Amino acid sequence: MRLGVCYYPEHWPEEKWADDARQMAELGLSCVRIGEFAWAKFEPEPGQYDWDWFDRAIETLHAEGLGIILGTPTATPPKWLIDRHPDILAQDEHGRPRRFGSRRHYCFSSETYRRECRGIVTEMVRRYGEHPGVAMWQTDNEYGCHDTVESYSPAAQASFRVWLENRYGTIETLNDAWGAVFWSQTYRSFEEVDPPGATVTEANPSHRLDFQRFSSDQVASFNSEQVKIIREFSPGREITHNFMGAFTAFDHHKVGADLHIATWDSYPLGFLDLMPLPEDLKRYWLRQGHPDFQAFHHDLYRGCSPKWGVMEQQPGPVNWAPYNPAPLPGMVRLWSLEAIAHGADLVSWFRWRQVPFAQEHMHAGLQRPDGAPAPAYDEARQVAADLEEIKSGQTTRSDVALIFDYEGQWAHMIQPQGQGMDLLRQAFETYSALRQLGLSIDILPQSADLTGYKLIILPGLPILNPVLIKQLKETPGTILALPRTGSKTDNFHIPETLAPGALQPLMPIQVTRVESLRPSVTETAIWVDSERRVINWREHVELPAPDSELGVHVEACFADGSPFWIEAGQVHYLAGWPDNEAAVNIFGVIAKRAGLEPRLLGLSLRLRRLGHLEFAFNYGLDAETLEGFVPDNAEFLIGGMDLPPAGVAAWKT
Ligand code: GAL
Repeated sequence: MRLGVCYYPEHWPEEKWADDARQMAELGLSCVRIGEFAWAKFEPEPGQYDWDWFDRAIETLHAEGLGIILGTPTATPPKWLIDRHPDILAQDEHGRPRRFGSRRHYCFSSETYRRECRGIVTEMVRRYGEHPGVAMWQTDNEYGCHDTVESYSPAAQASFRVWLENRYGTIETLNDAWGAVFWSQTYRSFEEVDPPGATVTEANPSHRLDFQRFSSDQVASFNSEQVKIIREFSPGREITHNFMGAFTAFDHHKVGADLHIATWDSYPLGFLDLMPLPEDLKRYWLRQGHPDFQAFHHDLYRGCSPKWGVMEQQPGPVNWAPYNPAPLPGMVRLWSLEAIAHGADLVSWFRWRQVPFAQEHMHAGLQRPDGAPAPAYDEARQVAADLEEIKSGQTTRSDVALIFDYEGQWAHMIQPQGQGMDLLRQAFETYSALRQLGLSIDILPQSADLTGYKLIILPGLPILNPVLIKQLKETPGTILALPRTGSKTDNFHIPETLAPGALQPLMPIQVTRVESLRPSVTETAIWVDSERRVINWREHVELPAPDSELGVHVEACFADGSPFWIEAGQVHYLAGWPDNEAAVNIFGVIAKRAGLEPRLLGLSLRLRRLGHLEFAFNYGLDAETLEGFVPDNAEFLIGGMDLPPAGVAAWKT
């Protein structure tokens, strides 16, 4: 387990570097990320490199024993490069270039840009690849940030056509797959197909899904070009990329498959402000963040590659959310320890010192712009001390697997059928309800090995993968499928036998009609004489004939008598979206039947098991007690039975 910080030597006079490095080491940090935006300093003129300053920066940091994480600088192509090759720029759907002047101004399909990237990355990796101080490489920075996965440039158009031809072979197959007969969209050749942008009304959903698959593949292949160079010239060094929160425009499982360690950038307060939450909750968690948002991403990215970590941890107010509050004292420590409790291998704060100029000059760092410690500085020191107490635990498999899938998210986003409905939200709300029950959860792709899980949850995956279905047929565990599971084919059609399609061998029902519900509308389901609220989505389900081979049992019905909660053996299906209270209640019952021991934690207390340790975190504004959750003779390594706001406890189990 390592602690680190993001540092930009190019922003500061060289005289400060040695002191900065000394202070980093003194604070208890063991690594430092540098370089990811410095292309114009590395190659100030085309083909003329200036590495001397960077050599000295690396030596200075290395001299303090800091392990260096080197970022390839491809998120920021310099001005001269864009002026020479304007075709590098991505284009929006109206064909307008996304111009120079900030960052991420490139198209993943530009062959010119890929060539230039191979050039600078090769130069850099050849120079530093075997330096003893270099511990890790980060490819680029936050693929897709600022809405940059999709591009409608001529290069993207040409590559999309090739991609389609590889997928479909003949144009007739594509026409069938897309249902192109609808609205006379039939194509005569791949040359006629454009990216699905700027159409009069919505473009064909199968076309859009393929464009998203293609755009995602472009990100993955762009990344693997860099990975290949790094593996060749920097043997033995880990490779990471820093993913973002609530971001799904490319398949992180695919990119993660090429990495040693998936990292992500965790900004709890910025994200809280952007979440679609009721105002009173936003106010309550204003300085703490949503108690499940960080954990959700820790668990999601843990499922993406062998190791994972946080590359950028929020240290104070950021500059990019609509409102930017300061964290409650103690929260920077809490967020960092929470990542550790989920098995992080790295936690690194963003950034060392607040920079007094340019776009992010209002973004806090561990130090103020004048070099004095900002409030997070001492919290970082405290985390280093806490780590001494807990050592690090080993991540063990959880009992609950929640299956998430990027393709499914795209399908929901392309045709939500109800405003604000998407798979990420369904997965997150499911996760949150399970966490309110004190459960530890693994978030996994459809292809993951599910052996040993007691409870497997499908939070509405529309397109089911045969690998998953095969495992579900074999598992002795309990399965819970939420509405919209199996509702589409791979081509984005309704399955011939209707939803839940490929799940029908395990859950032999048919969804005959669906309704999305306005926020002001709730439906009622009755379970054991009490009413449960169903929001957002409701399905009408037909049951199999009573004498059919695989029988079903209806556990709960809607007020009009139509089935809501259906059981077939150990498989459960909900034909509507439970609100939070109903979800906690129903998932709790199912968890118990799966042999788990759910514990009701309430709004803001959270628990997480890590090997032989259990952690507790208080995201609330009131003190919490751990009585009832901690065995009487437990040995606390951090904190104790009473948890103040922003408090953390850890004990041996
Ligand atoms: C991240 C990015 C950093 C910095 C930070 C500010 O998205 O990777 O470079 O911009 O946000 O919060």
